[in-house]
Amino acid sequence: MRTPVIAGNWKMYKTAGESAAFVKEFLPLVAGVQGVEIVLSPPFPSLSIVGALTAGTNVGVASQNVHFAAEGAYTGEVSPGMVKDAGARYAIIGHSERRQYFAETDESVNRKVKAALAAGLVPIMCLGETLQERESGKTFPVVERQLRTGLAEVSAAEAPKVIVAYEPVWAIGTGKTATKEQAQEVHAFLRGILKELFGEPVALAVRILYGGSVKPENISELMAQPDIDGALVGGASLKANAFAGIVKFK
Ligand code: PGA
Repeated sequence: MRTPVIAGNWKMYKTAGESAAFVKEFLPLVAGVQGVEIVLSPPFPSLSIVGALTAGTNVGVASQNVHFAAEGAYTGEVSPGMVKDAGARYAIIGHSERRQYFAETDESVNRKVKAALAAGLVPIMCLGETLQERESGKTFPVVERQLRTGLAEVSAAEAPKVIVAYEPVWAIGTGKTATKEQAQEVHAFLRGILKELFGEPVALAVRILYGGSVKPENISELMAQPDIDGALVGGASLKANAFAGIVKFK
């Protein structure tokens, strides 16, 4: 019913040359894969080369961020239209590292989600609780606030295009994956909120990815959960073999 999405987030790794070398190694490894949306998210300077090398293949490209304006005096920022022009079809928005180090808020995430949709990009909207929030029993209210505010003013017609990525902050880059039960519990909760917001058909159509220390060894059990529709992968997406292993989770 929902096509799974496996997206690699390279963060601030790989020059344009290194990105091109990755794509050349990776494409043959996943050439036969069907029924999975495969996405690579390189840093901005590599978008064009990765876009060009993957054009016409089964691999799509995401930017790691976008600004909410179409253009303007915003030194250092990049607009949705610019990343689309460089070959991106998706935009990661509101990654916890952006929230933590670059002062992104639920409100700025919402502006970016709307801007990405308006530009014809698929937003991959990230949310998730910190360790302190989990330990103090705030996981559900935190992710509910992030989801509701992040999707404010998004219409039921646009909502199915959005991909949500649940990434518990304590699981990112730590080697500490959420258990399949912990992840499924939050995914089911998020789908319930989507149902309240947009109705059941939309809630059943939105892909909800899990992110946080996903590896070839744990992807299958995560994907076997009814509400986990894919993964956003950091560290393990930097090596073509490991990422191909995750893409071929079936
Ligand atoms: P990780 O990162 O897979 O290295 O934990 C996930 C992410 O930040 O999207």
